[in-house]
Amino acid sequence: MLLKAVAVSKVYNREVIFSDVSLGIDIGESLAITGTSGSGKTTLLSILGLLMEPTKGDVFFQERSVFGLTDDEKSHLRNNYYGFIFQDPQLIGSLTVLDNVMVPARLARRSNLQEKAEKLLNELGLQHRLHHLPYQLSIGQRRRVAIARALLLDPLLVLADEPTNDLDQDWTAWIGNYLFKLPHRGKALILVTHDPDLAHRADRVVQISEGRIRDLPAGSRNRSHSPGMLPPKFNPTTIDT
Ligand SMILES: Nc1ncnc2c1ncn2[C@@H]1O[C@H](COP(=O)(O)OP(=O)(O)O)[C@@H](O)[C@H]1O
Ligand SMILES: [Mg+2]
Repeated sequence: MLLKAVAVSKVYNREVIFSDVSLGIDIGESLAITGTSGSGKTTLLSILGLLMEPTKGDVFFQERSVFGLTDDEKSHLRNNYYGFIFQDPQLIGSLTVLDNVMVPARLARRSNLQEKAEKLLNELGLQHRLHHLPYQLSIGQRRRVAIARALLLDPLLVLADEPTNDLDQDWTAWIGNYLFKLPHRGKALILVTHDPDLAHRADRVVQISEGRIRDLPAGSRNRSHSPGMLPPKFNPTTIDT
C-alpha cells in the first residue's frame, strides 16, 4: 500500500474533529473524501499529506511509519512523492504562469524541467497564458496552474483539496477528467470535494460526518460525464472561469 492512515484522530482545543479514521490508497487508485464544510476534510488531507500530525494514530508511507520522522525527513518525502493542489491556488503574484509552475524545479535544483512545465500547461489548456501573471487569470486558470505545478516533479501521490470550487459545471467536469486520468498514469489520487458527481467517479468514496468516516457507494470511474465531453474553451479571447 502506498499510503495508509491507521486509527487516526484529530483534536483541536479539546474538540474532536474526527476519530478512529483508517484508510489507504495504492498507486492506480483514487479516493474521494467528502463531507460538509467544517467536517474535517482539509484536516484529514493535511494529515495524509504529512503537513500535520494526528492527535492519535499513525500514517504509513510505503509501509513505513511517518510517526517519529524528523521534519527534514517528512519534507524529503513530501518533496519527492507528494503533489499538493491546495484549496487556494497560492500562486506567487510576481511570477509568470510558467515561473510559478517551475518553482518546485528551482527548489529541487532541477534545471531541465521547463519543457515538461510547458507540456503540462499545454495539456491543461494554458499554452496561451505562459507569460501572464496570476492576477491576469481567471480562478479556473489559476487552479489549472496549481495543478501543473503539483505535477511537475511527477509525484506518486496527488492530493487535491476542492480543486473545482467556484468553477462552472463544464470546467469541473474537465478538471475531473484530467485528475481521474492520473491513476491510469501510475499515480494515486486523493481528492477532497463536496461535489457528489465528482466524488463518485473515484474508486472509493468516504464521507466524514460527525467525527466519523464511512464509505459511500462509489461509481464507475469510467462513467462518461456529458459536460466533461465538451471541449474546453481554449480560445484566448474567451473568458473562462
Ligand atoms: N488550526 C486549527 N485550530 C483549531 N480548529 C481548527 C483548525 N483548523 C481547522 N479547525 C476546525 O476544524 C474543523 C474542520 O476544519 P477543516 O478540516 O478545515 O474542514 P473542511 O475542510 O471539511 O471544511 C472546523 O470546525 C475548523 O474550524
Ligand atoms: Mg477544507
